[in-house]
Amino acid sequence: MQKPENKKRIFFALWPDDEVREKLIKAFNSSGFSKQTGQKFKPENLHLTLHFLGNVSAQKYKCVMNTAEKLTFNSFELVLNKFDVFQKAKIFYMGMSDTPQGLVVLQSRLGEVLSGCDFQPESRIFTPHVTLVRKIKPVTIENVADEICWQVKQFALVESLPAQGAVEYRPVKFFKCAL
Ligand code: 2AM
Repeated sequence: MQKPENKKRIFFALWPDDEVREKLIKAFNSSGFSKQTGQKFKPENLHLTLHFLGNVSAQKYKCVMNTAEKLTFNSFELVLNKFDVFQKAKIFYMGMSDTPQGLVVLQSRLGEVLSGCDFQPESRIFTPHVTLVRKIKPVTIENVADEICWQVKQFALVESLPAQGAVEYRPVKFFKCAL
């Protein structure tokens, strides 16, 4: 999608460390889904979206950056343990059967404080997921996966940049937990 001049396309996300990233790649390769058609993830782009803000002005960018700086949150562990599909959106992803309270609090608090920057959080229920394939064909999947434990100590402001017909997600700043 074309980005208007002077705007940045951004979102907040949990960004895996190398260990979790490797485990996600391994899980995907053993999922049996890796041979299906679709637009597969780029390993360096893997993430779990908290809030997608889209194209923002320099002023809004500054506001969300300052606002996120002030948010305090505690570290928590999440466990990715299933593969699933958003049938309508044609997305194959890895998700979790239990959403930890720490993640619920972080995502909702972040949405609340960002409303002070003229951001309207999505009203639909938050389904935390790591997208693995887009534009999938309708498919039935075996959804059990080996557990991936992810100790979350920070979240990131990420910029979406065009990269040779594809997209590159680049973390701009990490916001660390208090505890
Ligand atoms: P995803 O979380 O399902 O993978 C950057 O585009 C990230 O923000 C992607 O991970 C994407 O989907 C998520 N996202 C959420 N809402 C979006 C929207 N309306 N347009 C583009 N991306 C969106």
